[in-house]
Amino acid sequence: MTTTLNAYVHALRFEAEDITSIELRPVDGVAFPPFDAGSHIDLQLPNGLLRRYSLVNPPGDPGRYLVAVLKDRASRGGSRWLHENLRIGMRLTISAPRNNFKLHEDAAHTVLVAGGIGITPLLCMGRRLQQLGRPFELLVFARSRKSAAFVAEVEALGAPVLWHFDTEQGGPPDLKALLAARPAQHGTHYYACGPGVMLDSFEKLCAELGYTNAHLERFTAVEVAAATDARQSYTVELKRMGKVITVTPAQTLLEALRACGADPATSCEEGICGSCETAVLEGTPDHRDSVLSAAEHAANKVMMVCVSGCKSDRLVLDM
Ligand code: FES
Repeated sequence: MTTTLNAYVHALRFEAEDITSIELRPVDGVAFPPFDAGSHIDLQLPNGLLRRYSLVNPPGDPGRYLVAVLKDRASRGGSRWLHENLRIGMRLTISAPRNNFKLHEDAAHTVLVAGGIGITPLLCMGRRLQQLGRPFELLVFARSRKSAAFVAEVEALGAPVLWHFDTEQGGPPDLKALLAARPAQHGTHYYACGPGVMLDSFEKLCAELGYTNAHLERFTAVEVAAATDARQSYTVELKRMGKVITVTPAQTLLEALRACGADPATSCEEGICGSCETAVLEGTPDHRDSVLSAAEHAANKVMMVCVSGCKSDRLVLDM
């Protein structure tokens, strides 16, 4: 975890079936840092796990962070712990907000596509767009009406909303038709958050439809295999430290960095949080993260050193 903050649980609220919101406030009255729409924080759980949640409350909402947690049936101890053990008044260590899902506030039009608990960052974005008076609409999908969180808050945004409940409409939405009906004219930006399958399909459909302003945020890492031309062994120059190291086939880049005394900020260590983003000064990374866009991967200006490798004999990092 990077910068840490001390918080206490001010309120817990039932939001929908298996979804609880957690309102965190600063301990000792020390104000939380401000954040912008699309930001997330990490919660350090007493059982040692670190979990990442999007902020739901609007930017500029002073003195509190609001997140919502879906009790995942396949929980490895994060969401289950929070649902079963968290109590009002408990203290938690959290990270300062980070944003890998930035809102283009000046877009002529914005389409927000939410699946299930993926509504959380998009509600925050909607609230920001409402504050700015910018035009936007939402497509909100949920398994059923009772599993949909923040329905009243979404309606209160005053923007057009298309609701889709699988149990009422006989199955999942036709995302292709819904996106095709909202063409990328006048600089429209599209944002999606939700289950991995929905995001895979959003990414593919936006590419097919030529929607270049498509953005998404994943909460589970996508397994990305090493590229066929990835180097087994390569050298890394750490420019600011004045060191040159060799990453061997038996090591990850992160292991090699730590072994030489470099200590990049990390959190998830699986390529989804963005904490370890490092500037690339020379060389070609083998990107294996789920944070950067395809364009950012192609530009090779930054990389996530926790999961990525290298396609050239040498990398020079700003470290
Ligand atoms: S530590 Fe989270 S992306 Fe690298």
